[in-house]
Amino acid sequence: MFNFKYYTPTKVVFGKDTETKVAELIKEFGGKKVLIHYGGGSVIRSGLMKRVTDTLDAAGINYIMLGGAVPNPRLGLVYEGIELCKKENVDFLLAVGGGSAIDSAKAIGYGVTNEGDVWDFYDYKREAKACLPIGVILTLSATGSEMSDSSVITKEEGLVKRGYSSDYSRPKFAIMNPELTMTLPDYQTACGCTDIMMHTMERYFTQGGNMELTDSIAEGLLRTVMNNAKILVKDPKNYEARAEVMWAGSLAHNDLTGCGNDGGDWMAHKLEHELGGLYDVAHGAGLAAVWGSWARYVYKNCLPRFKKFAINVMGVENSGTDEEIAVKGIEALEAFYREINMPTNLRELGVNATDEELAEMAHKCAVGVGGAMGSAKLLNEDDMLAIFRACK
Ligand code: NZQ
Ligand code: ZN
Repeated sequence: MFNFKYYTPTKVVFGKDTETKVAELIKEFGGKKVLIHYGGGSVIRSGLMKRVTDTLDAAGINYIMLGGAVPNPRLGLVYEGIELCKKENVDFLLAVGGGSAIDSAKAIGYGVTNEGDVWDFYDYKREAKACLPIGVILTLSATGSEMSDSSVITKEEGLVKRGYSSDYSRPKFAIMNPELTMTLPDYQTACGCTDIMMHTMERYFTQGGNMELTDSIAEGLLRTVMNNAKILVKDPKNYEARAEVMWAGSLAHNDLTGCGNDGGDWMAHKLEHELGGLYDVAHGAGLAAVWGSWARYVYKNCLPRFKKFAINVMGVENSGTDEEIAVKGIEALEAFYREINMPTNLRELGVNATDEELAEMAHKCAVGVGGAMGSAKLLNEDDMLAIFRACK
């Protein structure tokens, strides 16, 4: 087991009607003037925002609002949010929505508390020294941003999508009511389940040594998400299934499933970020589209863990060569993606990429990771291009 740090300062308040606790939680963490940040309006249409503002009004908490965080949230709105917070002396951010609203709030939080251009952090030029405190009311189980240290922002100029991680941005509290996810389109539910699994798998397919407990948690989490994702395809209003998926989403990305590994692989995510940047696809669907091609490209270099995954997660029989078992595991996961209506290549994702675009994405990806990255297998620009070509 490698040395590790495990830091999860987020207070989780989980279950039905928990959004009614928002005012007392904001007060507990010292918020006096709040910016409520949200996306394209689903939280207004569902009636959630009215319940939230009524609760804040009743508690006498001052707030202003800024909507408009789009999937693959944009830097322009982050700048707008920073100016607004400075002008209005905002001291607490409340993100109401999915990963995009939360990530956009995190970037605003950095921008308010640090001098200079906030993009510098996402461009890996310098480190943030602080972030405004953030609370979350989660409406989409997917990114784990409600407990994670990361945020992903897209710069409009050049469509550059980059992630930045810092403990300062870990939310102070996360309100998670599984009922709030019941208004999601089925496609977003499936994208979320895919993303949750990928956060665990990025930490699983490594060259790490012995991680018995961490592996058991990871394998159990993956089996749980698959079971419940299949239930939700047929029965989207199933509360218990929504609850299992929601809790899995947080545990998949609060580092629990990475304790003792070598930092993880993360190349499927880096490849997807290029797809999200260029074609504005949903993050989970982009991950499903590249995963099989990535897995086939790297599995021989990480055979023991692909075999373990096939047997312990996908239920493949332990017979035949290790390579045969590993490939059956990859095929079984792709079959699961199809079962929940996720794409397994770019065409199914609705992306008809030209050779030039594939080369552009591979180049931007290689620049973004500083040349080469990956634990299952170290990948350079040529490898990235080969994977993009294979999933066309
Ligand atoms: O914008 P609104 O109107 O709210 O609609 C959203 C959006 O259209 C809708 N939605 C959310 N909750 C809903 C709902 N519709 C009906 N009912 C609800 N309860 O769903 C759509 C997608 O929302 P979004 O927030 O974009 O999705 P997600 O949570 O998947 O976030 C994706 C973003 O997070 C990044 C991704 O790259 C992408 O930019 N990631 C962030 C991570 C992190 N911070 O730790 C890690 C991830 O790996 C990921 O990269
Ligand atoms: Zn993700």
